[in-house]
Amino acid sequence: MAWHDTPLTRTLNIDFPIIQAPMAGATTPAMAAAAANAGALGSLGCAMMGAEAMAEELRAAQAGTNRSLNVNFFVHDRPVPDEDLNAEVAARLAPWYDRFGAGVVKAPADAIPMFDEALCEAVIACGPTVASFHFGLPEAALVDRLKAAGILILSSATSAAEARWLEDHGADIIVAQGAEAGGHNGWFLPRRGADLTGTMALVPRVVDAVSVPVVAAGGIADGRGVAAALMLGAAGVQVGTAFLATPECSSPEVHKQAVINATGDDTMATRAYSGRLARGVANDFSREMASHADWPDFPLMNAATGPIRAASAKAGLPDAVALWSGQGAGLVRAETTSQVVARLVAETEAALARV
Ligand SMILES: Cc1cc2nc3c(=O)[nH]c(=O)nc-3n(C[C@H](O)[C@H](O)[C@H](O)COP(=O)(O)O)c2cc1C
Repeated sequence: MAWHDTPLTRTLNIDFPIIQAPMAGATTPAMAAAAANAGALGSLGCAMMGAEAMAEELRAAQAGTNRSLNVNFFVHDRPVPDEDLNAEVAARLAPWYDRFGAGVVKAPADAIPMFDEALCEAVIACGPTVASFHFGLPEAALVDRLKAAGILILSSATSAAEARWLEDHGADIIVAQGAEAGGHNGWFLPRRGADLTGTMALVPRVVDAVSVPVVAAGGIADGRGVAAALMLGAAGVQVGTAFLATPECSSPEVHKQAVINATGDDTMATRAYSGRLARGVANDFSREMASHADWPDFPLMNAATGPIRAASAKAGLPDAVALWSGQGAGLVRAETTSQVVARLVAETEAALARV
């Protein structure tokens, strides 16, 4: 049996067991279409979009490919504002606003849409192959509606317990996301103070815990990582960071350069940009904020840090940009999306031929 004939490729009708990760703020219709045309699952990070914007984005990707596509949303709990903490956070951010001339400090605010009926209906009307979620799943009625429309459900787990929960609540595919992953870690069940698990230890535990296809994510940026994930029992991989330096990526240039120049030993997880733990290349802002343990609920900080992130990127300075990146950053090159997919495939074949 060919290495790329897995439960994932069969379920998704794709050529290679590779998902180009959904990355809000970084993926584009051009990226998703190019990844899909290269034989992977093309994905759009739609977490910041309402129904209309999401539909426009997905239709643009669909115009570029007739292969399988995935749209992705956040399903976090509604944040509870804390006025005392907001005041404290404003004082932390003030010097950064001054430094970048970003005006009056913006208060923490809830600016990420919830996955609601309107988004659900818009997804069904567009008919992608997959709807995927981060931080759990939407309410059961919405999951049922997507499934009744023939749309596959995918979500990320960071523990075997989360994977079992997702399978019990209707997930057709589960991404086992290790601590190495770039961007937000998708944990959603209480961790009782425990650290996040790395991909190598997480994937086999999740594979043993569920019967649906498991996709490994976190730190996989070349074919050696893909081959290793398959050896761990994964049906495929989800790769994000390796696509960040492509011309199809919409991240600011300063983010792309940071990922290309990163060694992979220079990333850190921080709550300072959004309130939830997310991994990126360490910079002045994330290093300075590491001394603070208390942050407003996700995603309130996203609004509060927006102006300094934008101003820093505009100035071409990485200092306060959320340089989301996984620990595989040291393996990333400036390539097109289709070159990344083709390289991952060729390198996987070479790695598997060696064993
Ligand atoms: C810039 C960036 C943005 C991301 N945004 C999302 C997102 O919107 N939704 C999501 O489910 N995962 C998001 N992720 C996580 C990816 O889906 C995936 O789990 C991760 O990139 C895999 O690890 P890697 O970056 O080491 O390849 C993001 C990752 C990055 C690097």
